[in-house]
Amino acid sequence: MSSNFIFSKHDTIELANKYGTPLYVISEDIIKENAERLLSAFKKCKVDFEINYAGKAFLNIAMCRIIDKLGLSLDVVSGGELYTAKKSGFPMGRICFHGSNKSIEEIKMAFEFKVGKIVADSEYELGLLNRIAEEMGVTPKVMVRVSPGIEAHTHEYVQTGRVDSKFGIPLKLVVKILSQKGIYKNLNICGLHCHIGSQIFDEKPFIIAADTMLKLIRDLKTEGVGITELNLGGGFGIPYLKDDSVFEIDVYLKKLVKFTGDKCKEYGIDFPKLLIEPGRYIIGTAGITLYEIGTVKEVPHTRKYVSIDGGMADNPRPALYDALHHAVIANKMDSSFDDEELVTVSGRCCETDTLISDVLLPNPAAGDILAVLNTGAYNYSMSSNYNRLPKPAVVLLNGKHDEIIVERETYEDIVSKDRIPSWYR
Ligand code: LLP
Repeated sequence: MSSNFIFSKHDTIELANKYGTPLYVISEDIIKENAERLLSAFKKCKVDFEINYAGKAFLNIAMCRIIDKLGLSLDVVSGGELYTAKKSGFPMGRICFHGSNKSIEEIKMAFEFKVGKIVADSEYELGLLNRIAEEMGVTPKVMVRVSPGIEAHTHEYVQTGRVDSKFGIPLKLVVKILSQKGIYKNLNICGLHCHIGSQIFDEKPFIIAADTMLKLIRDLKTEGVGITELNLGGGFGIPYLKDDSVFEIDVYLKKLVKFTGDKCKEYGIDFPKLLIEPGRYIIGTAGITLYEIGTVKEVPHTRKYVSIDGGMADNPRPALYDALHHAVIANKMDSSFDDEELVTVSGRCCETDTLISDVLLPNPAAGDILAVLNTGAYNYSMSSNYNRLPKPAVVLLNGKHDEIIVERETYEDIVSKDRIPSWYR
């Protein structure tokens, strides 16, 4: 019996040896479990619903295929994400196109591809969408993003539904904007959208957001504007550390549906189709990153630094949001508690680049493989080539299979877009 770290039935040391490090490892089985938990929780509620996977958390052609097979819809936020979905053969009718500042080219691309829905983020964008729709002779389905003015308990940088936010139309202005007659005649405005933030564990702000949006649907109905769909966004938290709590999705959805039913009666509106838009919840726990440990340096009476062959270029979350991650030494899973030391895991980028400031690891040494857990969301998708580091490969596990879904970048890839100005040739 191997004492190596087993992830989704695979020996991570074998994976590191086969594909090299740093390596993103994604488990299709875990993605499926996460998605099915959402689907079955919603199905139990017996309402009309749709789940949009938020592609910003992790997207590539293989991921689009997985999302398609699971029957989920896909939220994209840029021409690049839309193009990826198109290339993968993802059904365009199940695409929801977001973005707080879409370009004219992106909007035209979305209309040409006939995406299912487009989310208008501002009054300016409603006008732009209407004008382009008229020019192209199309009547796209549009949801309007609202800034509901709700504070969610999460990192300031990932709170997106506050009054003071670049996202969405301020709550107070929505009725005035949407009730103007004959202005947006080329748009089929069918829904409202809000997203209050990310990595949230408390269901209360979601319920408050639902109430705010349902009241808005009531006020719009009074003005003759019919809204049939309500998207309450994503943001469900996942555990990063051993003692972190779990977001009970079935409890939340049950509460939400009951609450929505009660409020619809009270406000005299029809029960809308309910949509959610999770990214992290689906992919976060489905990914780990494998690194090789190199330099181990003790600063006497201060701290032990354990350096790895990746860092903020492949996982910028600790640097950006003070995000915490747990890690294990994949080849030392049978070590005892006495071997553990409190160390700092440092990335290789030329700045402080602390990946994990305090973690207990058993006698970390050069050549060990460090597995950082729950890195599926916003790691690969936010990775960079800082310090001209090539991006790691992404390997997908499915049952006993393991295959590369994104190739490791090479040094040639790194210089491939560089051009020498004529005066140096
Ligand atoms: N819908 C909208 C409109 C969003 O802006 C987001 C995330 C989501 C859905 C999905 O949220 P999720 O379910 O994944 O929490 N890079 C940060 C997270 C930024 C989230 C941005 N918006 C991080 O690494 O924590």
